[in-house]
Amino acid sequence: MEEKKALIFGSDHAGINLKRILMDFFHPQFEIIDVGTRDTNSCDYPLYARNLCVKVLELKTLGILICGTGIGMSITANRFKGIRAALCTNEYMARMSREHNDANVLCLGERVIGVDLAKSIASTFVNTSFAGERHLKRIELIEKLV
Ligand code: RB5
Repeated sequence: MEEKKALIFGSDHAGINLKRILMDFFHPQFEIIDVGTRDTNSCDYPLYARNLCVKVLELKTLGILICGTGIGMSITANRFKGIRAALCTNEYMARMSREHNDANVLCLGERVIGVDLAKSIASTFVNTSFAGERHLKRIELIEKLV
């Protein structure tokens, strides 16, 4: 049997409900790795963004970060070299973030979007590939310039 690809999840307290739902949703397709938080106690999102980015870079796979708005997670994740985090509120953004930007981290806001939309955005993200070609040069420029 083919080995399942890893999909990494991280959240703070404001994103933990949606994270649990999405981890269950993707469980049949992926090996799920949760870098925390594990309960609803108030906590600091940068710590979990950091944990997730380290794991995504180590395993060379995709990750999903969830906080209240997704903004704090995306600001933090994009400080890590090699991480391209995309805060998406619809499927089009999710598809483009993979095809054009080769995003390796999806950020979602539990307080912003509903569960069904989140599932659809996340499915689009994990099932879309980077288009390469002219977009590759631009990704390389990010790494070179920043
Ligand atoms: C927590 O209240 C909230 O600030 C956090 O989840 C996130 O939305 C920050 O960007």
